Amino acid sequence: MLNSCLFLGALLLLGFGEEAKSVAPKNQIRALFPDNFRWGFATASYQIEGGWDADGKGENIWDRFTHTPGNIADNSTGDVACDSYHNYARDVEMLKDIGADYYRFSLSWSRILPNGTLAVVSEAGIAYYNNLINLLIANNIEPMITLYHWDLPQPLQDIGGWPNEALIPHFENFARLAYQRFGDRVKLWITFNEAFVTCMHGYGYGKHAPGISGEDTEPYKCAHTILKSHARAYRMYYDEFFQAQNGRVGITIDSGWYAPLDPNNPSDVEAAERAVRFKHGWFAWPVFYGHYPDEMRIFVDKKSEEEGLDQSRLPEFDRYWETQVKGSWDFLGLNHYTTELCTYKVGEYSGWSQDQDVGFSRDPTWPESASDWLRSVPWGFGNLLRWIKRNYGNPLVYVTENGWSDSDAVGLEDDLRVEYYTNYTQSMLQAITEDRCDVRSYTAWSLMDNFEWARGYSERFGVHWVNFTDPARPRIPKKSAAFLKQLFADNGYPGPDVNSSAESKHWKILSFTYFILIKFMLG
Ligand SMILES: *[C@@H]1O[C@H](CO)[C@@H](O)[C@H](O)[C@H]1NC(C)=O
Ligand SMILES: *[C@@H]1O[C@H](CO)[C@@H](O)[C@H](O)[C@H]1NC(C)=O
Ligand SMILES: *[C@@H]1O[C@H](CO)[C@@H](O)[C@H](O)[C@H]1NC(C)=O
Ligand SMILES: *[C@@H]1O[C@H](CO)[C@@H](O)[C@H](O)[C@H]1NC(C)=O
Ligand SMILES: *[C@@H]1O[C@H](CO)[C@@H](O)[C@H](O)[C@H]1NC(C)=O
Repeated sequence: MLNSCLFLGALLLLGFGEEAKSVAPKNQIRALFPDNFRWGFATASYQIEGGWDADGKGENIWDRFTHTPGNIADNSTGDVACDSYHNYARDVEMLKDIGADYYRFSLSWSRILPNGTLAVVSEAGIAYYNNLINLLIANNIEPMITLYHWDLPQPLQDIGGWPNEALIPHFENFARLAYQRFGDRVKLWITFNEAFVTCMHGYGYGKHAPGISGEDTEPYKCAHTILKSHARAYRMYYDEFFQAQNGRVGITIDSGWYAPLDPNNPSDVEAAERAVRFKHGWFAWPVFYGHYPDEMRIFVDKKSEEEGLDQSRLPEFDRYWETQVKGSWDFLGLNHYTTELCTYKVGEYSGWSQDQDVGFSRDPTWPESASDWLRSVPWGFGNLLRWIKRNYGNPLVYVTENGWSDSDAVGLEDDLRVEYYTNYTQSMLQAITEDRCDVRSYTAWSLMDNFEWARGYSERFGVHWVNFTDPARPRIPKKSAAFLKQLFADNGYPGPDVNSSAESKHWKILSFTYFILIKFMLG
């Protein structure tokens, strides 16, 4: 009998210990974000505004690109898009209803400067953004502005676009005007959104505006100009505006997570590490350290030499620019969506995608979205955040985009998007609470379905469904909108409360065990 008692007692202790460890802290503490954590939504001017030639707006590269047949999957354009140019009050209402702390949107450069330069300033364009900013603030939603989200004024493309360093002073002028006109109320500035996509898809693969295919050299030149332009806009803010406005300036860099195909194969492990450095490091390394990552320098220099070039295809920052670019950040904006597997594979031609000697693949079991490049791999997000912490000294990170696409057929019951948001925010939470990554905000992409670049309206990323055949462009909340509203309100996952069924079940088991134990002891 004594033996039975000890046995039961041990079971009880074991059971109790395990429960105490896994249930109580996880549901009550570990699933909540830090108190000052902030939640928001992102959009981009060309994808939502429409009004492509309204009130004197100039032509930009996306107007030109979509008006050229054959460039967009469904032959659509952003001429009207969500018509936010006329519906911005409805957008603010949606943000208010869902409980967003802030709204990340971008400025259409050619709406403000129709030919890209200070030659003409459109007061109508400025008024549009002033109205939006004022309405956001009146609703207690902080504006976060992206200066450049891919819609370059066409006249600046006509002088060569981003591969031409002549664009640096033009961007600086545009940024100064934005700080002058909006900086009294706007305190969060992002200079560039995903320069990787601008440079590779616009000037390398030619699948995005301006549709130039020049993978060997043009993306590297484009990135170089953009990094210098970013640095100028960052320094100029501190020289001319910071004292009066006290805002913060950063850059948004996109990156997937890159994992070795075979974690036990050292060359796969090296390939994966090289892939993150070629992707995130291409832009972030200069911003943190003033030069491109060593792996990029070594690989591109070597290949350029083998090609018989007398100069590397990867440019270098001279002393002056090194000091300008290095440290040009108050926060790191991060757009993250997915993960790829990497193996060692010798590049077949010259250009960024081949220079790194990496072959990419995806695990077929990873859940698929409507976009061929996007699968759900939640653990990749946490790994990327930890990689950022390790490589850049735990910088302040704002997650400026994360989201999921589905097709027309899915409609309002977007369960996979809810799963994606659940899984990804939990992976981020773990990186914050367990690994102390300094992530302070999370921006869902996107507030509503919109013009998905070369994919037109065929891939929907919104938590609001937009009817693109209705001239009024009505927006209807999807299931994911209700989900994020709850997540924002709870600041995480509070878990079952003390009165929940899981908890009472635990107590029932516990009291039953005590009952048996006492019965045995009493004989
Ligand atoms: C788009 O237009 C091209 C010709 O310009 C046509 O071949 C193609 O079928 C169209 N695609 C759709 C989805 O309408
Ligand atoms: C913009 O317009 C001004 C005035 O008409 C002109 O001088 C300038 O060259 C134009 N800029 C570009 C990049 O086309
Ligand atoms: C989310 O995580 C659950 C549990 O691991 C998994 O079953 C599901 O497939 C995931 N869904 C997505 C979209 O990531
Ligand atoms: C979208 O709008 C069109 C035009 O108003 C209407 O015929 C259609 O039923 C709407 N679709 C949905 C799913 O509401
Ligand atoms: C749990 O139950 C107690 C007593 O019935 C009640 O006072 C309390 O409000 C409940 N807590 C929650 C979070 O529902």
